[in-house]
Amino acid sequence: MPSVKRETSNVKAQRANVRWRFAEIFGEEAAAVVRAPGRVNLIGEHTDYNDGYVLPVAIDRSVVVAAAPRDDRQVVIHALDFGESVMFSLDDIEHDLVKTWSNYQRGVAYFLEERGIELPGLNAVVVGDVPIGSGLSSSAAVEVSLAYTWQMLAGFKLSRVELALLCQRAENEFVGMNCGIMDQFVSTLGQRDHALLIDCRSLDYQTVPLPPGAAVVVADTMKRRGLVDSEYNTRRRECEEGVRILQRYLPQVQALRDVSTDQFVENEGQLPENVRKRCRHIIYENERVLRSVAVLRAGDLAAFGRLMNESHASLRDDYEVSCAELDIMAEAARKVDGVYGSRMTGAGFGGCTVSLVAEGAIEDFRAQVAAVYEEATGIVPQIYVCRAEDGVSKP
Ligand code: GLA
Repeated sequence: MPSVKRETSNVKAQRANVRWRFAEIFGEEAAAVVRAPGRVNLIGEHTDYNDGYVLPVAIDRSVVVAAAPRDDRQVVIHALDFGESVMFSLDDIEHDLVKTWSNYQRGVAYFLEERGIELPGLNAVVVGDVPIGSGLSSSAAVEVSLAYTWQMLAGFKLSRVELALLCQRAENEFVGMNCGIMDQFVSTLGQRDHALLIDCRSLDYQTVPLPPGAAVVVADTMKRRGLVDSEYNTRRRECEEGVRILQRYLPQVQALRDVSTDQFVENEGQLPENVRKRCRHIIYENERVLRSVAVLRAGDLAAFGRLMNESHASLRDDYEVSCAELDIMAEAARKVDGVYGSRMTGAGFGGCTVSLVAEGAIEDFRAQVAAVYEEATGIVPQIYVCRAEDGVSKP
């Protein structure tokens, strides 16, 4: 999307700020500065933990870390956004029940050590502009930025896929959020001006160029995702129940990814109502992701927009993870001339929509969507034009 006028990236300013604050706080120069991006998922929602397909983009909103190794085993992290510091020993990594933001970093340290990697202690300053709790994966960006920083400073070498898996493990087993692999994967392996088609079973991926002439626009409902953890786990269990029942009729099925739409239509009568709806979403959503890649590669933005709209309807009616604010935002977006499609993105229950918008319609989008949304909800939304960025890197 080379000719779209985008918001200026904050990365330069963040890097200078984080270096300067590091020197001020620790009285030494940072030995490494690393940025890891948040993400927006174009399509393929809740499919990752069903061994399915997703199509996310790493965005130009990121978490930036400045750090230097210590010669003891202490880790000191100062989070500029919270104005708080934590200190812990690598020999005794415990949960922090008060400064819960540090559990993402503690989890990364814990699982690096568990792999037998002897880490040096660390002084670090962290800052980010991925809005927290908005479904743009600030937590994955925090995990990936720290894992990569340690890799640079400690000299071990994990592949990018291994880094992503380790960060997912930190989130699953240390933080206790049972997420799939999408967020950490794209924060690690994302590619500028491209989306990633990820096969969440094999972890193979392909880059898919974003179409010229259109922009990926994120609209934040500003509704923070309250219910998300418990409902997320409920959805996972319902999908697993669907697999268990379908296996009686289709013994080769290991995950919903293995069920074709024809097989679903033949067997859906065996499933209880709520499980049937969850399975229907996942099975058709996987198909929508693959069709999306084909139509995007063919430059058919209208077809991709229709698939986005269908995905939203399915998440709203079958998977039941949307909410009034997301529905209002997506509908307002679709009424703007030049919008190809719009849908909720991320886990749901609040957070953001993602829309594909013709370059010439971005200003109308901002004005009209903000006005309609504010009128309906009384809330002023945040609207960002996103640039597809590289995964974790030295900025
Ligand atoms: C959250 C999780 C991801 C994925 C999405 C829904 O962002 O972290 O793994 O499951 O929800 O698609």
